Amino acid sequence: MKVVFVSSEIYPFAKTGGLADIAGALPVKITKHGIRTFAFMPLYKTVDTEKFGIKPINVKLDVYLNGRSYTFEVYKLIDGVSYFFLKNDELFGRDYLYGTPEGDYPDNDVRFGAFSYAVMEFIKNEGLNPDIIHVNDWQTSLIPVLTYYKYGWHDVKTVLTIHNLAYQGIFDKYSIERLNLGWDLFHMEALEFYDKVNFLKGGIVFSTAVTTVSPTYAKEILTPEYGYGLDGLLRKYEKKLFGIINGIDYDVWNPETDKHIYKNYCSFTLQNKDINKEMFLKETGLKDKSKPLFIFIGRFAKQKGIDLIIDSIDDLSKLPINLAILGSGDKGYNDFFESIKGKYENIFVKVGYDEPLSRKMYASADFLIMPSLFEPCGLNQMIAMRYGTLVVARKTGGLNDTVKDISEKDGYGIVFEKPEKHEFLNAISRAVELYKNKTTFEDLRKKVMELDFSIESTAAKYIKLYENIKYSREVKL
Ligand code: ADP
Ligand code: GLC
Repeated sequence: MKVVFVSSEIYPFAKTGGLADIAGALPVKITKHGIRTFAFMPLYKTVDTEKFGIKPINVKLDVYLNGRSYTFEVYKLIDGVSYFFLKNDELFGRDYLYGTPEGDYPDNDVRFGAFSYAVMEFIKNEGLNPDIIHVNDWQTSLIPVLTYYKYGWHDVKTVLTIHNLAYQGIFDKYSIERLNLGWDLFHMEALEFYDKVNFLKGGIVFSTAVTTVSPTYAKEILTPEYGYGLDGLLRKYEKKLFGIINGIDYDVWNPETDKHIYKNYCSFTLQNKDINKEMFLKETGLKDKSKPLFIFIGRFAKQKGIDLIIDSIDDLSKLPINLAILGSGDKGYNDFFESIKGKYENIFVKVGYDEPLSRKMYASADFLIMPSLFEPCGLNQMIAMRYGTLVVARKTGGLNDTVKDISEKDGYGIVFEKPEKHEFLNAISRAVELYKNKTTFEDLRKKVMELDFSIESTAAKYIKLYENIKYSREVKL
């Protein structure tokens, strides 16, 4: 079987969030199962071609859009998976992937539209003949539309994975012309969405199967509360919608081999996790190792429950805990967290994206907090547990599928229901109490380290889906 896998970010080449982690891990795993995999992403300015050995091949792709042409040079890396990086500096030679902290780049439709056409041209020119084209999120959602409608490849099956329904790629209606799409697609049953063009909607309508990244989120997005205006459409296509829980690559996230942490450990040498905590407190100026260390790592976006943290910050500063926050995102949030740097003795803040620091935090912490308003899957909680860090999470989406409250049989985390300050603070207090009971706490640590959240089972499910849709008219998992 041949699979073309397309994503706007792939770890380790470019990453803003969990999409990159999955797009990094999944092609590698499915390749190990004998599937020939061709992975595509744009060659951003930020990709370190030298470090990864990404080399130009002598292939150029011309995309004609709205009276002008965009030329992409093709770069390649073979490492089990065949990776192709499409280079056009006018569109992708910028400081950020999607936009600055002030907002999205206004020409994102042309950027990712042109990239999508370039992928199609490459598939055609090189005669790749894939059985499946697997795309991810709105940035690559035009590809199923092009596959079916523009290129007429009705035998090629397409899978769209929705990593986050909150981002749909919505543009003014003349995007249709900018992308040479034809006004017949500007229809309620196709790309039209309240008089605008919606990329993700096109992907949902035209792909053979739609997946999202956890079973709970697959149900949630059928409701107006989580559906971001697309719940009706998703209900209509419910038969081809599946929730496949993400996993993490246990080779990439492994406290036994992680080069960035202070001291490696496993579930049998947990005393070394304590050394990590000690060193981290020293490095960040936090005091008193006997207090539980809570961490938050993530995008500063409303989705992540940042407002709950901000509203609770004074209360958190008065609790017998240490708290370390690492993140970046919306300007208002960045400014807030910059403004509280050094204000509280027990709160350390770093605004920015810093993978080595994040790894030290996972290794040092006692608890990770994830008060998300919604969470399609969430990888942080899986990484934290792999590092023996217990999770305090809101009961939503993938968090609901991966964190079980200690009050339940075999529970191993702290879960709260409503995204409200008193519930959040109550969950933190429950964690503080749990921490006092050393034996239970240590047992739970071992337990979460031994749970299986690996990408292996995720990959097996996608392969099953690919096989089912390749050979059958019925879409099933
Ligand atoms: P999302 O994709 O919604 O941002 P996920 O939980 O799926 O959330 O994945 C987040 C990934 O990004 C994890 O690998 C996490 O460690 C990483 N991450 C998020 N913010 C930062 C940051 N500021 N510095 C380093 N890593 C980060
Ligand atoms: C999105 C979601 C996150 C998910 C990730 C990878 O960014 O916000 O919950 O884990 O994609 O699928």
